[in-house]
Amino acid sequence: MALTNRHTDGFATRLGVLTATLGSAVGLGNIWKFPYMTGDGGGAAFLIIYLLATLAVGLPVMIGEIMLGREARANAVGTWKNLAPGTPWFLVGAAGVLAAFLIMAFYTDVVGWVFSFIVRAATGQLNSTDPKVGEAAFSAMVSHPWHALFWQWGVLALVGGILLGGVSKGIEKTTKVLMPLLFLMLLAVCVRSLMLPGAAQGLAFLFAPDFSKVTVDVVLNAMGLAFFKLSIGMGTMMTYGSYFRSDADIPLTTARVMLADLVVSLLAGIAIFPAVFNYGLEPTAGPGLLFMTMPAVFSSLPLGQVFMTVFFLLTGIATIGAMLSLFEVPVALFAGSGMMSRKAAVIATALGLAAFGVPATLSFSTLADVSVFGKNFFDLYDFLSSNIILPLGGICICLYAGWVWGGARSHAALSNGGTLANAAVIRVWYALVRYVTPLLVVLVLLKGLKVF
Ligand code: PHE
Repeated sequence: MALTNRHTDGFATRLGVLTATLGSAVGLGNIWKFPYMTGDGGGAAFLIIYLLATLAVGLPVMIGEIMLGREARANAVGTWKNLAPGTPWFLVGAAGVLAAFLIMAFYTDVVGWVFSFIVRAATGQLNSTDPKVGEAAFSAMVSHPWHALFWQWGVLALVGGILLGGVSKGIEKTTKVLMPLLFLMLLAVCVRSLMLPGAAQGLAFLFAPDFSKVTVDVVLNAMGLAFFKLSIGMGTMMTYGSYFRSDADIPLTTARVMLADLVVSLLAGIAIFPAVFNYGLEPTAGPGLLFMTMPAVFSSLPLGQVFMTVFFLLTGIATIGAMLSLFEVPVALFAGSGMMSRKAAVIATALGLAAFGVPATLSFSTLADVSVFGKNFFDLYDFLSSNIILPLGGICICLYAGWVWGGARSHAALSNGGTLANAAVIRVWYALVRYVTPLLVVLVLLKGLKVF
């Protein structure tokens, strides 16, 4: 196998492998998407289904994707070119790079809102028990083109600045600090939230299953969420896999990441739902929950402003690892192809992302009336990436790992050349990746395409 584009930088420690990968998984998905999808899907019933979806779909794809990246030691496109030279498989990587641009475009938009709310919370602008105050602040911000772009570009500059440091000195070092900090802050907000009068109701909602709300749609949405949550199907985990140490235990690391990520989602639910019930609001209030309801809830508490600021700060912190991993996909491609230095690749990617981000950000102001396939740019980017490219990439990864790369090589790769005693785990993974996972993901894709 002719290996080209191999990098010299990578994660230096096994802890760094874990924090960087977990950092990619944790993000807006936990705090913004997960709570309201849980609300829609019958609380704990959704949790159970989501858990099954991650086991049957999320983990198998994640393991295969990281494995292929580590074997090839190259970026999202280079990996396919190394493993399957002269074939069209590299197109899977190219689609992934496009997905990285699409996701970052709307993701940085929302993160920009979060960052601006950190400042508003800290300066006392959101101190009101009336949700209308949060609502007014929110709509003033999204409807003001330059305001929204200012925050989005600031976020891009921050993430690009970290990436200039490289993989181990940039991504690894940052996530090693941010992940523990996130857990501490989240725990503090949870404790506060559990002291609210609505806590019992909030917990009951989160942990007592209501299976009557579970439909085929809910199950397919849970599988789709597993893709977005675990950052799989688009080359992010492939790129990170290429930075994995050769002695890192891939199945164990992915299982730990999946569990820790689930814990973050549950803690986010514990932080948010008691507050929602305390206020007599609907748990399915949608994404607006974060920006409109939460400020009002915190304002009614002693030390509310402090907790509100911590809440938005921890949301911002949670998004950084995810953005680093998204941004790194094109950076690794541009720098790895030998066309430019890493610094030039970061700058080129930042400019590209800023340009891509404009239509998404202006979807709420200047371009509010423009729609493509019945969607504004913000929703279109989300739809194309989450509903189409990620599942398609997941299917291709399963097919390649299970049917082309094959059992013997997978076994050698996932047992680190026979040094890990995990043959049984690998056998289960291999059966899933060949026969079960791709079929389930095809259903997700068909649902995304509205075939049924
Ligand atoms: N997993 C991230 C989240 O939950 C989003 C993400 C998707 C990151 C795809 C990288 C790649 O917020």
